[in-house]
Amino acid sequence: MEPVLPESVAGDPPPFERIAADLAERGWSVVEQALPAALATALEQEVRGACGDDFHPATIGRQHGRMLNGAVRRDAIRWIDGDTAAQRDWLAWTARLQTHLNRRLFLGLFSYESHFAHYPPGAYYRRHVDAFRGDANRVLSTVLYLNRSWRAQDGGELLLYPEAGEQPLLRLTPALGTLAVFLSEAFPHEVLPAGRDRYSIAGWFRVNTSTASRVDPPR
Ligand code: OGA
Ligand code: MN
Repeated sequence: MEPVLPESVAGDPPPFERIAADLAERGWSVVEQALPAALATALEQEVRGACGDDFHPATIGRQHGRMLNGAVRRDAIRWIDGDTAAQRDWLAWTARLQTHLNRRLFLGLFSYESHFAHYPPGAYYRRHVDAFRGDANRVLSTVLYLNRSWRAQDGGELLLYPEAGEQPLLRLTPALGTLAVFLSEAFPHEVLPAGRDRYSIAGWFRVNTSTASRVDPPR
C-alpha cells in the first residue's frame, strides 16, 4: 500500500518524493529531467547567453579562509539572486523542494544558495567535500546540469565517492535537466575535465547555525 501523505506534500512535483526516499535510504539521489522542460531550457539559455564578465573565478574556503586556488578548481561562477524570471522560478522550485524534504525527513533546512558555474574546456574541480569542517551548516548539495546533447566523449562527469573509499559510487553525465542531490558532509566528489564548455547550477541547503553571540549568514 502507498503511504498516505499530507496533501501539500502529495501535490508536489513527482521528483521530490523520489529524492526524499533516496536520501533517506542512501544519502544521495539523481533524477533525470528533474525540472519542467521549459524551466531547464530557460536556465540553459540564460547561462549560455551570460557574457563572460558576469562570471568570476570560483574560490575555495569560506569568508576569511576564502582563496583562489586554480589547482583545486577552475570553474567560473555567478550567484543566483533572482534577477530574471528563470532564476526566480528556479528559486521557487528549490524552495518547494526544501519544504518537501523538511516535511518528509525533518532536516531543518533553513536557506538555499546557488550559483551558475561555467567550466571552460579543460576545467575541473578536484575531489572535495562541500561542507567545511568546523561550520557544518551546508547540509544538502544540489547540482543541476545545463548541457544539451552532451556526449560520452565530452567528459566532464561528476564522480561521487563513498565517505571512505577510492571507488566512485556514481559517475554522472552532466546532461540538461539532470539533478544530483547528496548529503554535503558525507560524499566527496570531483568534476573531471570536459572537452567542451560545461554549465551547471551548484547549490546548497543550509541549516541555521547563527547563535545569539555569532551570526552565520550564507556564503
Ligand atoms: C561544486 C561541485 C559539481 C559539478 O560546485 O561544489 O562540486 O558537477 N560541482 O558541477
Ligand atoms: Mn562540490
